[in-house]
Amino acid sequence: MRANDPLLQPYTIKHLTLRNRIMSTAHEPNYHEDGMPKDRYRLYHVEKAKGGIALTMTAGSAVVSRDSPPAFGNLLAYKDEIVPWLAKLADECHTHGAAVMIQLTHLGRRTNWNKADWLPVLSASPVREPAHRAFPKEMEDWDIERIVADYASAAERMKAAGLDGFEFECYGHLMDAFWSPATNQRDDLYNGSIDNRLRFTMRVLEAVRKAVGPDFLVGCRLVADEDWDKGLSKAEGLEICHRLKASGLVDFLNIIRGHIEHDAPLAKVIPVAGMQAAPHLDFAGEVRAATKFPVFHAARINDVATARHAIAEGKLDMVGMTRAHIADPHIARKIAEGREADIRPCVGATYCLDRIYEGHEALCIHNPATGREAQMPHVVAKAQGPRRRIAVIGAGPAGLEAARVTAARGHEVTLFEASGNPGGQIRLAAQAKRRRELIAIADWRAEQCERLGVAMKFNQLVEASDIRDLGADVVIVATGGLPQNVTIEEGADLAVSSWDILSGDVKPADDVLLYDDNGAHPGMAAAELIAEAGASLEILSPERFFAPEMGGLNLVPYMKTFTERQVRITTMTRLRALKRQGNKIQAVLWSPYSETDSATRLVDQVVVENATAPLADLYFDLKEESSNRGEVDYEAFVAGRPQTKRTNPSGRFQLFRIGDAVASRNIHAAIYDALRLCVVL
Ligand SMILES: Cc1cc2nc3c(=O)[nH]c(=O)nc-3n(C[C@H](O)[C@H](O)[C@H](O)COP(=O)(O)O)c2cc1C
Ligand code: SF4
Repeated sequence: MRANDPLLQPYTIKHLTLRNRIMSTAHEPNYHEDGMPKDRYRLYHVEKAKGGIALTMTAGSAVVSRDSPPAFGNLLAYKDEIVPWLAKLADECHTHGAAVMIQLTHLGRRTNWNKADWLPVLSASPVREPAHRAFPKEMEDWDIERIVADYASAAERMKAAGLDGFEFECYGHLMDAFWSPATNQRDDLYNGSIDNRLRFTMRVLEAVRKAVGPDFLVGCRLVADEDWDKGLSKAEGLEICHRLKASGLVDFLNIIRGHIEHDAPLAKVIPVAGMQAAPHLDFAGEVRAATKFPVFHAARINDVATARHAIAEGKLDMVGMTRAHIADPHIARKIAEGREADIRPCVGATYCLDRIYEGHEALCIHNPATGREAQMPHVVAKAQGPRRRIAVIGAGPAGLEAARVTAARGHEVTLFEASGNPGGQIRLAAQAKRRRELIAIADWRAEQCERLGVAMKFNQLVEASDIRDLGADVVIVATGGLPQNVTIEEGADLAVSSWDILSGDVKPADDVLLYDDNGAHPGMAAAELIAEAGASLEILSPERFFAPEMGGLNLVPYMKTFTERQVRITTMTRLRALKRQGNKIQAVLWSPYSETDSATRLVDQVVVENATAPLADLYFDLKEESSNRGEVDYEAFVAGRPQTKRTNPSGRFQLFRIGDAVASRNIHAAIYDALRLCVVL
């Protein structure tokens, strides 16, 4: 069966045979050092090569010109020093059987001028992109000549580095700014007919072909329908695909549908959790059928069954599983070994992508080894030392990960959970229909724990005496937290918490004020639920920017609800007091910006989101009996060395607490706590 798996069949394009049909499309993880793909960048891609991927498309649009300053950590393809770094990356991936390509671009208006060399941003026409907010200048003749030449010399560098090919980014960047009526307002030979709008692209392709020769693989990742009343139509997009094929200058098309000029349409191109799976797969299939040309495509094909369907049904030649590989770089290997169930699922949380738009590196919400390959393993090795007895208390994300990792180390692990199910706060988050997929973070770990022989004890409220009786060598307290109320002058107890709303314990009233002093998912999710229940809702935030702990893409579905349900959003305002007034509650508000300002609201219900306070009684009950009195050697913790503190020599076990039992953070932080502690136990 596996031998016939459509996903595992090789695919030949020109001289290159790819070992299967699975690829990772271009994505900038922001792992560069000085704009170069150094060790961190290389190890990230090599891990996928080891995991059996056929093709890894590196970079998220490496930039070909100086006046295309990196917008999200893009590699600098206009510098010669990139060649040896890419050569090393390609060599190592090749050793593990994967092909390596790169995406090249000029970002055009999708960046800003206030960085790098402070050069003006340009585009086909001076049409501003709302997401990056630069006012671009219209490209002049000498800009066109210069950038065509830049593309060609970047292409030469990529060939010199021994890459297997490259693709041009043609959606939302410079090349397609000429194609789209939304962004091309020129009155010269670069606007009007399709041929005119393709003139810049064709000039680049011709120059590039001259530079790299006829055999080198060149593709276009292009928008073939902007799905936008003022943008490129499907008919025009298909025409462009035909012309690119007919030019003989291009070897493959990597199909995009939609436009990306701000977060809302971007979330249609790269759908997040709760949105439709594979929304553009049929469209990509239509392009393949119409052009009879190699077609690659990615957009939320995050499970093997859909990927297999895409290939089996002839919709695609290569299927992109990009975030799926950020979650688990070993997908193809696990399929080939008949271990599909072991694949760590991508839950669509899009923590990865939201982070790069905020200037951080891409990290997976539940795989802390991704992007940290130099320190953290994707495959946990057996411990060399003695088998230890480990007690983990709490089966939220931190506790489940601790149990999984210590069991994979070969230890004897017991996991206690007070409730009847694994998941902790994830269960609460997954109550929201749209975020249901998050539960896979817990379910995958629970299944792995079961397979690894963890003794899982549910409905067990553990006390210190239980732990003493167990005779554990290591005790890991992962008991999470409970909602903490806000500190206000009066009436804090009149409020209910976001958890009360999310769990369904408290029903939303008719007229609600939600005070969000956290700025993350719990407040937004509670607000969404209240709004959808039909309540009149005002969200009050002390922040200058709304929901500062949320990424732009994650905010899109919430904002859709808030807009459609006419939720009022008030920022830069704090809650001072709550007072009972008959059946209503009066909320007294104040502005940190004015000593005199004060306002009130009269509502039926006040909901407060103020993160969680640690639930750590068990930890403190055990602290004095432990050999390390709970102390963590942070130097060792960060360096990935074992914990050896022994501040209480008579203590019989090591004690640690992790996740929100220490302080309110997020799922990634909780799981990372567990992994880096336990991987050296
Ligand atoms: C962190 C991150 C950065 C990305 N950067 C780029 C990019 O620079 N260029 C690009 O064409 N696509 C980029 N993408 C989009 C991916 O290539 C892909 O189209 C998208 O993630 C949808 O596919 P998936 O559902 O398989 O992840 C990025 C995606 C992620 C997650
Ligand atoms: S953060 Fe979410 S979307 Fe991104 S790879 Fe991880 S699970 Fe997938």
